Amino acid sequence: MHTPLLSRIVFVYTTRLMYVCLCRAVTDTEIREAANSGTHDLEGLNDALGVGANCGSCRETAQAIIDEHLAEAISYAA
Ligand code: FES
Repeated sequence: MHTPLLSRIVFVYTTRLMYVCLCRAVTDTEIREAANSGTHDLEGLNDALGVGANCGSCRETAQAIIDEHLAEAISYAA
């Protein structure tokens, strides 16, 4: 049985960080920074930050953050 996605996400309210990959302590901000630097898929995130390299439960959320970030970038460019 899968753990609900939201229960796997930890929010740190003091700094507004959201840890996406708990195994590697990678935040949503770090994933967006990686996307800005040209990382646009999970394989690239794995190479750059180790996201998804252990338990893998973060992969869906990490990909969603990249997709959202790229969509925002495209909308700003249009
Ligand atoms: S939470 Fe990312 S590999 Fe486990």
